Amino acid sequence: MPGREVVIVVGAGLMGQGLAEAIASKGNEVILVDKTTKLAHRGIKGIAESIDREIGRWGLTESDKKAILARIHPSADLSEAEDAEVVFEAIPEDLTLKRELLQELDDICPEDTILVTNTSTLSVSEVASFTKRPRKVIGMHFLNPVSRIPLVEIIKGLRTDEETFQRAVEFAESLDKKWITVNEYPGYVTTRIIVPFLNEAMHVLMEGVASAEDIDEAMKLGFGFNVGPLALADQMGLDVVMTWMDNLLRELSEHKYNPCPLLRKLVRAGHLGVKTGRGFFRYDEEGNRIESAAPVVGGAIK
Ligand code: NAI
Repeated sequence: MPGREVVIVVGAGLMGQGLAEAIASKGNEVILVDKTTKLAHRGIKGIAESIDREIGRWGLTESDKKAILARIHPSADLSEAEDAEVVFEAIPEDLTLKRELLQELDDICPEDTILVTNTSTLSVSEVASFTKRPRKVIGMHFLNPVSRIPLVEIIKGLRTDEETFQRAVEFAESLDKKWITVNEYPGYVTTRIIVPFLNEAMHVLMEGVASAEDIDEAMKLGFGFNVGPLALADQMGLDVVMTWMDNLLRELSEHKYNPCPLLRKLVRAGHLGVKTGRGFFRYDEEGNRIESAAPVVGGAIK
């Protein structure tokens, strides 16, 4: 997997964009596939905006941006994967959707192509079972924003073989990521620990204990987090966070994974966080927080 090669990323949403950017920034060509060409192009636009933010904060240049974008090719044609050595899937956290995609990829790709899932809560063994190559299916759980978070969890399904694991390790290292090995279990390490934390912050807000700003400020200053739990949930996507919790609740029947009613309310209202301009806080078109705008206060959407 390492070196200069063509990598397919399926799903041009938040994570697909981040993956494509991180992979292309190491000199690889990326084909970014979504359901329609329009969605794939929307993904490219998102990547351009993300690099613009990094130019401001992290010292990337306009010519870096041009070079990275020139290596990412939008597409709506999954058959682009017919010669792929590795395919990353970053489509929504829905087992039925993942099953359909994995079966399609299994038919299209050569039998030794490695299929990588970025799932946060679903079983890698189950995702692998949708294919005729379960030994070649592995989880690589990158976190958002991929270009800045140095961690990837590498998740072995029950039937993932050692060669596939080693190639995933090489790939993680070629992207300068630190990796940890995870033996499959719902929520792995990061999602399992972060989700009850986010949920508790939402309960604290819903119960009127403190304002959204103060909850985030308390956790940042008190415990050294770079971002508070409510802003973090907004960045992840409130619909995505709720789906993770529902999956963990279904799988483990543990009350601690029951999504806070306030989270359900926001998702039902279409307030999904940064991507819709409104979640616990408000955001402009470029995804920057509008500090002066009133957030959700005490559970009431103002
Ligand atoms: P998203 O909703 O932002 O993007 C999903 C994209 O997949 C959309 O553009 C959608 O049009 C596309 N898509 C759906 N079905 C497709 C298909 N059959 N073929 C091609 N494209 C298709 O979702 P997000 O947040 O990027 O999550 C993707 C995966 O990454 C999920 O499994 C999620 O659990 C995981 N993840 C998400 C993180 C986050 O912070 N949002 C962090 C780590 C993992």
